[in-house]
Amino acid sequence: MATEGQKVVLITGCSSGIGMGIAVMLARDEMKRYYVIATMRDLKRKDNLVEAAGDAYGRTLSLLTLDVCSDESVKQCVDSIKDRHIDILINNAGVGLVGPIEALSMDDMKRVFETNFYGAVRMIKEVMPDMKRRRSGHIVVISSVLGLHGVAFNDIYSASKFATEGLCEGLALQLLKFNVSVSMIEPGPVNTEFEMKLMADVSKKEFIGADAETLYHFRNCYLPTQVNLFQSLGQTPEDIAKVTKKVIESPCPPFRNLTNPLYTPIVALKYADETRSLSIHTFYHMLYNLGGVMDVSVRLMKYLTPGWLRRRTISPV
Ligand SMILES: NC(=O)c1ccc[n+]([C@@H]2O[C@H](COP(=O)([O-])OP(=O)(O)OC[C@H]3O[C@@H](n4cnc5c(N)ncnc54)[C@H](OP(=O)(O)O)[C@@H]3O)[C@@H](O)[C@H]2O)c1
Ligand SMILES: *[C@@H]1O[C@H](CO)[C@@H](O)[C@H](O)[C@H]1NC(C)=O
Ligand SMILES: *[C@@H]1O[C@H](CO)[C@@H](O)[C@H](O)[C@H]1NC(C)=O
Repeated sequence: MATEGQKVVLITGCSSGIGMGIAVMLARDEMKRYYVIATMRDLKRKDNLVEAAGDAYGRTLSLLTLDVCSDESVKQCVDSIKDRHIDILINNAGVGLVGPIEALSMDDMKRVFETNFYGAVRMIKEVMPDMKRRRSGHIVVISSVLGLHGVAFNDIYSASKFATEGLCEGLALQLLKFNVSVSMIEPGPVNTEFEMKLMADVSKKEFIGADAETLYHFRNCYLPTQVNLFQSLGQTPEDIAKVTKKVIESPCPPFRNLTNPLYTPIVALKYADETRSLSIHTFYHMLYNLGGVMDVSVRLMKYLTPGWLRRRTISPV
């Protein structure tokens, strides 16, 4: 149980990757400032976390079952916490989906929204009223750079993260009145099971319904670029955990944090041209005209030429 002065942190999706990285880093805090409730939908997947947590397990880290897609599971989990008191909620659970949308089932698309978007909504709905009442709390969402700009063949995943970004922008404003903060962490590629799960899914699917040309682009342009991107720019779950720890420890928590500085110009590009065509064309060239991605940053800078920038119109803030 949390001791006096410790902050109770609940994290979703801790069986692997970023969620596990954050849970371990906070539970192993030298000053023992956190009591971590690491949740996962299936406790049979707990072994890696328990091993990584070491002697923090049972002291500053405990485990609970929580499926973000189930109202009952969410309620049961939160009800089982002493006084339902959660200081920091970290919405991390998420799933990916890639492929041409004409070849993806509506059920698969709904599952992405049910987990990434409604999963976060369900958690916030359960935890936020208590935070408002206490006039204290911090809601953190692990979003993605794909919540800020769309990428070919990630349309549905990207849409689910855009939806989450919109949700948080509205909430952040409302919750200021109640001394509750909202922060979004926006990682670029991170080497976790996420990408492996996507690749396994792609290798099983035939993508019936997509034309041959689209499938050619998907398999021969998009997929190799993606693999390269993870190899050349991929961060580790520990990198994301470090940023998350800084964000929750900040006296004035930032609303957004792009964990990979290389993505700052990509996001800026979107606002550098009022019509937004510039970023669409840049991505188009990166994907189709340039072959493999060895140095994405150099390639990106090539398209961020001063000429293009001089023509920009900065939208009013
Ligand atoms: N990896 C990246 O490149 C990247 C980049 C930007 C953002 N993100 C975001 O980071 C978050 C974590 O992803 P990751 O990279 O750490 O991937 P990961 O290793 O696949 O971890 C995803 C976690 O979410 C859990 N999960 C899935 N559905 C759930 C549900 N219904 N209820 C509770 N937990 C559920 C998974 O649990 P199971 O073990 O039970 O499946 C797993 O623990 C996601 O929101 C993802 O969108 C990832
Ligand atoms: C606002 O929240 C912070 C952090 O949760 C807390 O330390 C502070 O006491 C709260 N302020 C008020 C006025 O309730
Ligand atoms: C995100 O956080 C890291 C670590 O605190 C910091 O170095 C970086 O500048 C932040 N990025 C932005 C865009 O604020």
